Amino acid sequence: MPSLHDCPAPAKLNLFLHITGRREDGYHLLQTVFQLLDYGDLLHFDVRDDSAIRRVNDVPGVPEETDLVVRAARLLQAAVPGLPGADIRVDKRLPMGGGLGGGSSDAATTLMALNHLWQAGLGREELMALGLKLGADVPFFIFGSNAFAEGVGEQLTAVDGLDCWFVVLEPGVSVPTPAIFCSPELTRNTKPVRIADFSGALQNAFGKNDMQAVAARLFPEVGKAISWLGGFGEARMTGSGACVFMPCQSEQQADAVLAAASGKWKAWKARGIAKHPLAGLQKSL
Ligand code: C5P
Repeated sequence: MPSLHDCPAPAKLNLFLHITGRREDGYHLLQTVFQLLDYGDLLHFDVRDDSAIRRVNDVPGVPEETDLVVRAARLLQAAVPGLPGADIRVDKRLPMGGGLGGGSSDAATTLMALNHLWQAGLGREELMALGLKLGADVPFFIFGSNAFAEGVGEQLTAVDGLDCWFVVLEPGVSVPTPAIFCSPELTRNTKPVRIADFSGALQNAFGKNDMQAVAARLFPEVGKAISWLGGFGEARMTGSGACVFMPCQSEQQADAVLAAASGKWKAWKARGIAKHPLAGLQKSL
């Protein structure tokens, strides 16, 4: 039976995240730049000779039935008649509730890999529409490159992003995204910006994260992580938290920050990348 192993599901950072309004259904309108990293989860797919979809390993804290990987596979299977099943193994490296898009990236990788393996024949736009049913960040991971996002995160325009090393710090708490979006204290009226205004500004100051103050208040470890990392450069929270990142001038600077974090914080370095590692698979669509 055909298989695809070691499929990357990269992490993302939100270089900035502005909330500009709210839709009638409660979802928030935002503007953000999604930046891909060369670090993430790894997924393995084996086509089955029946139609079952199984996650074959345990992922602590994520029951098989609610795992976005399983839901993504079922959604694709339901969209195209006659598709077989799959066994899926998830090597989880990204933290849950970390703002790095781990679950969304896993779902996107599942849609892209199984679309290819099953020869389901869906195009990129169709996969992105399926992905949006699973979460607002999923379409970005199918899009293929770094992106300026608007709407609820699904209106995407390709941008270069940052070609540098980042230090990412995990504060050791899991932030539930809805808790931040629901907070009455959340700023929801940041003035919309034009993408053209960001093209040159990304290398220097790049906006703010409107969710950071609320997350830091509800989860003090997030605030402590921002203060600590901020001693070395510009530190910012990604997504709704909990992780905090800092762009570095060089790999040496990243290493120096990691050395200082040792014994205090769980932290790692990753390089910003321009393209999703599975963008090649997409070309065949
Ligand atoms: O789409 P996702 O599953 O990541 O969203 C989780 C929750 O975060 C949603 O149920 C919604 O409450 C909130 N959310 C929002 N506006 C967005 C994205 C998410 O209010 N743009």
